[in-house]
This record gives sequence, C-alpha cells and structure tokens, in this order.
Amino acid sequence: MQEAAVIENPLRAGIRLERTAEPCTVIIFGASGDLTKRKLVPALYRLMQERLLPAEFAIIGLARTEMNSDEFRKAMREAIEEFSETKRVDEDVWNSFAQGLYYLTADINNPSDYDKLSDLLNQVDRERGTQGNHLFYLSVAPKFYGEAVKQLGEHNLAKPKENTWVRVIVEKPFGTDLDSARALNNELHQYLDESQIYRIDHYLGKETVQNLLVFRFANGIFEPLWNRQYIDHVQLTNAEMVGVEGRGGYYETAGVVRDMIQNHVFQVLSLVAMEPPVSLESEPVRDEKIKAMCAAREFTAERVRAECVRGQYGPGSIAGKPVPGYRQETDVAPDSATETFAALKMYFDNWRWAGVPFYLRSGKRLPKRVTEIAIQFKEAPLPLFGEAMQQMTPNQLIIRIQPDEGITLRFAAKVPGQVTNIRDVNMDFRYGASFGIQLAEAYERLLLDCILGDSTLYARKDMTERGWELVMPILNEWAATKDKVDFPNYEAGTWGPKASHDLIERDGRRWRRP
Ligand code: BG6
Repeated sequence: MQEAAVIENPLRAGIRLERTAEPCTVIIFGASGDLTKRKLVPALYRLMQERLLPAEFAIIGLARTEMNSDEFRKAMREAIEEFSETKRVDEDVWNSFAQGLYYLTADINNPSDYDKLSDLLNQVDRERGTQGNHLFYLSVAPKFYGEAVKQLGEHNLAKPKENTWVRVIVEKPFGTDLDSARALNNELHQYLDESQIYRIDHYLGKETVQNLLVFRFANGIFEPLWNRQYIDHVQLTNAEMVGVEGRGGYYETAGVVRDMIQNHVFQVLSLVAMEPPVSLESEPVRDEKIKAMCAAREFTAERVRAECVRGQYGPGSIAGKPVPGYRQETDVAPDSATETFAALKMYFDNWRWAGVPFYLRSGKRLPKRVTEIAIQFKEAPLPLFGEAMQQMTPNQLIIRIQPDEGITLRFAAKVPGQVTNIRDVNMDFRYGASFGIQLAEAYERLLLDCILGDSTLYARKDMTERGWELVMPILNEWAATKDKVDFPNYEAGTWGPKASHDLIERDGRRWRRP
C-alpha cells in the first residue's frame, strides 16, 4: 500500500490551532462611523465573550466627533445590543470589555492629534498592560489612508519597538484603479513593511470561503477531477437583492466591477483556480492565489466588447415590493452610466485550466441573495442511455458561499419504474444541518487573525494590483463608450440584462438558476 506523506508539525503547516492572542490595543480610525458600530466593535466584543482575547486588551476609538470615553462606551453598548448576533450584552463580559474602551477626539489630518494619540497609547499600555502591541484599523474614507499612515510613521507609531508589533488594517476600496492602488501601496510601504499591512476583504473571512481550501485539499476525491480534463466550465454567481442602500454617492464612483469583482469575486475565484499550496502558511497560500491570477487571460478592448457585459437596473420589484431604478436612487445622476451588474467570461491560460471558461456575474437588485460557485463537469463520453439522458444536465458541483451555506453534488439517477427514465438528483451538505452552530461573522475571524499575526486571509500587495490590472481594460473600454449604454437594461428583480444570457448561451451553455 502506498504511504501518505506526513506533515509532522501542524503549526509549521500553517494550520490555525486555537491560540490566545497577545495583549494589545486596537485603535479604530473612524470610530464614529457605521462599520465600527455594525461590525468592528460587535466582533471584538464577541471575541472577548468567547475568551479569544486576553484580559490585557483595549480599544481606542478615534474620530472627529466630540465625545468622551464614557459616551463612546455607551454608544458601543447600544451598538452591540443592536448589531451583534445575540442582540444581548453579557454584563460580566461587558464590564471587562468596557473598561478597555477609550475615545479620542482627533482629526486624521492634524499632526498634533497624533501626539495626543501617542500619549494615550502609553497611558493605555500602562493601565491595561497591553505591552505596546498596536493594531490600527483604518475605517475611514480611502483618501485618508495615506495621510494616516504617514502621520503614524512620523510620530514613531508605525515601527514596532523591541518585542512588540504594529499592524495596520486597511479597508476597501483599495484604490479606484491600478495607478491609485499602486500609489497607495507605495505610500503605505514608506512607513510600513508588507508584513504589517492587512488589506481586508471580508469575503475571505466567510466560513464557506475558507472551506474551499479544505474541500479541495483535504479530500482525495475532488482534486483529481478539478481540471480541464473533467470540467466543462465554471460559473461564479454573486447576486444581491439590495440596491445601493443610500450609498449612491460612493457607488457612482465605483460600479460593480470596482465594488465587488476586482476584490471579493477575484479572491473567491483565485481559491477555485489555484494550485495546491506547499503548506497552509500565509505566503505559500497567497503565492498560489497570485500565480493563478497571473494566468488569467488579459482583457483587450476587443475581448471586453465580446466577453464582458454591463447592466444597470431600472425600476422593478423585489420580493413582491416595487423598488426604484438605480437612476432614481439618492445621489445618483439621472443619466448615470454606472454599472450595477457585470458578467465576464474569463480564462486561465495554464495547464490546469486551458480552454475552460469561467463565467462570472455579480449584480445588485437581482431576484435572490446568493453567492455560489458551480463547477459543471463534462458529459459522460457515451450517451449509453440514449434519449433517457436528454432530461439530465451534466454533473454539477455547487458550492454555496451564502446564504444557505453548503455544497451540493448533482448527478443523474434512474427514476424508479419499469422504463429507464433519468433525472437529476442532489447530494447535499448543509452547514446548518451538519454542524448546527451559528457561523462566525467574517470580521470576527479576520480581526482575530490580524491580532494573531496571520495574514493568510488578507489581500497581499500583488493580489490587489493584479485585480486592478485585470479589470482596467474593462473599466477603460466602458468609460470610453459610456454614451452608448442602453441603461437601464434590466428590471430590478430579474437576472440581469439579456446580453448576460447571450454571453453564455452563445457557447451552448446556460446560467444556473440558483
Ligand atoms: C461590500 C460592497 O464590500 O460588499 C457592497 O461595498 C456589497 O456594495 C457588500 O453590498 C456585499 O457583502 P455581503 O457579505 O453582504 O455579500
């Protein structure tokens, strides 16, 4: 019998065992904003509740809004009650959590405010025993990222002192195009080492996205089929029912390619397309992801015209309720050419995927909220059952990222009876049914990883730039032809413009109906 290779030290292999985080202070820039109350503080509170954070822990909220620490504590308690999963505060946990909450009224652009921050950090390190380990979370408008890091650098807050660490989490959007992303990377690198920079992409914190690695590389039966020999094509659907939710001003400068595809969709895609990493440490995993993305075929203007589709929703109805069109949303131009939907056909020119199309679509105001990857296998080489096989679709493996997280394998079965009729059936794995526990919030996992110094689930410099590099020809071509759009070209509550169906049907295939 053939012996399996043994990985003796799971830590060396990068497997995250339960570890307790080191003492530290999390400093949130933009603490009066939405993300802080909806996600960051509830996630940190929950980590404390689960005893994954040490007692020597503190949070400093920093923003321009005038507030004192007591008022900040009160606001954060309300935030936890409103936005945490349980909507309830455990008094014991809250008391020790609240003791570590501080607030500083400060302006990101004002150098003297960083002196105040520096004094407060020293005070907090003394009072809370946080030992000089600092995690700065930049939850502010992207135009402030560079300035914040520059000021941290100039106030000696960016370089770790002996035996301490300093890390910086940068929110999305990371740039608005390739040049701005490169410029931002350069700005950050003037004061920070790449190992200190954590570019967050909350899709990587989703349990089901992490499971992609386990599914592919912990099982022996799928990987041998995971290539051009057996796979006909791959579909990645990222559909949202929501519109722009009051963020019309931002969305007008973005569109779905910048907002979702360049980052979230490409991150998921790279996990589907990558080769097995040599270990699960952050660099080998991220090396394989970027390697796959480097094999993605470049878009040319011609390819954009033939293989990329843009759409914008008009008025329609979602779950039976009428909703306005994109152009009628607040802060959106009445003749806006911003795309709220895109479908792309991609190829990876490497040995594994040569000739296998990857169809991607992402959009707002679609009939369902669903993110899924559908791997469609090739047909059986011989139609042995003749006409009885006409009812069946080729085998599919569907990985549901959200909601209703799980994996389904669709294959053909004989309908019971005297004649041979064949129908598709499902073999199903559901997270809820198999594990019966609430999946952790992406921000919990990602914040803890950063505190633990694990950057596997964060975007590396090369990956952000590659994402932009790939979409630039699309953005450029669409910008150059924005007068020619036929927007709105899909009704809210439908599966995108007709051209998106044409894109795949031209190849004799169909979008799956999730
Ligand atoms: C954000 C985008 O990054 O992701 C939003 O800016 C989008 O426009 C959101 O709605 C989707 O996240 P999720 O986790 O709800 O799929």
